[in-house]
Amino acid sequence: MNFSNRITELLNIRYPIIQAGMVWCSGWRLAAAVSSAGALGVIGSGSMYPEVLRQHIQKCRAALPEGTPFAVNVPMLYPDIDKHMEIIMQERVPIVITSAGNPAIWTERLKTNGIKVIHVVSSVKFARKAQQAGVDALVAEGFEAGGHNGREETTTLCLIPMVRQAVEIPLIAAGGIASGAAMLAAFALGAEGVQIGTRFAASIESSAHQGFKEKIISLQEGDTELVLKQLSPVRLVKNEFYQQVKQAELRGATVEELKAILGKGRAKKGMFEGDLVEGQLEIGQISAMVNAIQPARQIVEEIWQEFKQGIETLRQLPI
Ligand SMILES: Cc1cc2nc3c(=O)[nH]c(=O)nc-3n(C[C@H](O)[C@H](O)[C@H](O)COP(=O)(O)O)c2cc1C
Repeated sequence: MNFSNRITELLNIRYPIIQAGMVWCSGWRLAAAVSSAGALGVIGSGSMYPEVLRQHIQKCRAALPEGTPFAVNVPMLYPDIDKHMEIIMQERVPIVITSAGNPAIWTERLKTNGIKVIHVVSSVKFARKAQQAGVDALVAEGFEAGGHNGREETTTLCLIPMVRQAVEIPLIAAGGIASGAAMLAAFALGAEGVQIGTRFAASIESSAHQGFKEKIISLQEGDTELVLKQLSPVRLVKNEFYQQVKQAELRGATVEELKAILGKGRAKKGMFEGDLVEGQLEIGQISAMVNAIQPARQIVEEIWQEFKQGIETLRQLPI
């Protein structure tokens, strides 16, 4: 019998597992591989020009059996967002995951066009606002996650039960989840699905540079940190570029100075072109437990098996 809950029903997927939208990592190949494995594949539009996004949507759809769901992640702080949204509506993408912005701006229009809307939050306050804006579901993302994050530093273990208590709509947990056991923990706290970034960033189908993937699987505990809180907080690998940012922050650099250090194209340089020294390498704390570059399908299947196994193990507790 197939598993079913509010997330699998809302998104029409087999497993309540969502592959996170990730700049420079999640193009159509990764999204199609994840969706064809029965989870939700997501194209990360944040690193794409509008027409590049259109091509990724079309290729993803062409690679999947007709009607298979997939999504596009839209970080709302990017400049071309109007064009991205037009393309998403023209191409009839079934699901949009918005992040880093106000969900009140786009939700109604997307939903009027028959698109399901999920919004990413990092605090209870923003969870309430997103529910008010009418989104269909929430991703609550904890402090340990890779990429951009909230300033509150609320960990997934604290955030999920707090958000669960505050809102009624379906809830997806993100941040630090790379195994079936962690998925089970998130479900115990009230989540109905999980969004996984770091582990998929290191997958075979990820569009990240091979050097970045190898770096991810070599990382140990303590090798990442959330920096640039004055600009837009982001969790980075502690490489030379991170050291420059850290030193500047310690000496009290202004926002302008930090922007100058950041420059343009750092994330592309690091994650897509493989400059592990000067590039911006975004990844989560759980990279310390990601030790292999695997096919996306295998990741989905392993996590689901571990999740089910974990439930059996808990059932056998002598209580
Ligand atoms: C390399 C990388 C790039 C990311 N880019 C985005 C993005 O473009 N938009 C977004 O909403 N979140 C982005 N994130 C956050 C993920 O969508 C996701 O919520 C997070 O990775 C979950 O935590 P985990 O890395 O511990 O699995 C990114 C994360 C990583 C690791």
